[in-house]
Amino acid sequence: MQVTQAVHKRSSIRAFTDQPVSNALIRELIEGASRAPSGGNVQPWQLYVLNEDAMTRFKQHVLEHPRREAPAYAIYPENLKEPYRSARFEVGEMMYALLEIPREDKAARLQRLAQNFQFFGAPAGFFCFIDQQMGPPQWSDLGMFLQTFMLLATEAGLATCAQEAWATKPQTVAEYVGAPPESMLFCGMAIGYEDTEAAVNSLKSNRFPVESFTTFMT
Ligand SMILES: Cc1cc2nc3c(=O)[nH]c(=O)nc-3n(C[C@H](O)[C@H](O)[C@H](O)COP(=O)(O)O)c2cc1C
Repeated sequence: MQVTQAVHKRSSIRAFTDQPVSNALIRELIEGASRAPSGGNVQPWQLYVLNEDAMTRFKQHVLEHPRREAPAYAIYPENLKEPYRSARFEVGEMMYALLEIPREDKAARLQRLAQNFQFFGAPAGFFCFIDQQMGPPQWSDLGMFLQTFMLLATEAGLATCAQEAWATKPQTVAEYVGAPPESMLFCGMAIGYEDTEAAVNSLKSNRFPVESFTTFMT
């Protein structure tokens, strides 16, 4: 698969089949993703992989220990500006339309949101942490790592969904995986095979036109 094909094929997948993914394959993808660049080559990513029994136990633990937690960080800025606000709203509405959940059905929307905390049914996943000492440049390095991982996973026939929703459950996750106190959780990553029957997976999110965010200097 060409890089271009992987870039266009990848999308966030929010329903998976039961087909397992081996840790050997996940390890290979992580090793490949670790070729991602990072400022000063500091490689600030710290991962905890959940798979097989460990994943089953973790999902059960989350269900059995619901609790309100202080988020690891603000996922979006308060008063998110335009055009970002509308883009966020639009993709959410596109997803709920595919799921046939209207705006008024708050309970169904919340229930759907809670699917994040079961990795959308993916058999495997990981959590990505970063040392609290790190700042915005190193956080951007995480993005490079994560996208490289998702593209390599696409090439391997896998599907993924990055999940910052987990930032709302940082204690549950950190305690479970045994992350050191100086680490903080950035996001989760659902990994598995796409359930091609699930309507939600047909979501093709929009993008801003190049001219709206790019200035070619003349
Ligand atoms: C760092 C990061 C965190 C994300 N967190 C979530 C999440 O918690 N739940 C979710 O359903 N999608 C999540 N997404 C997926 C985005 O909504 C998605 O990337 C965006 O709408 C564009 O769609 P696409 O990935 O299908 O191209 C996340 C994406 C990124 C890059």
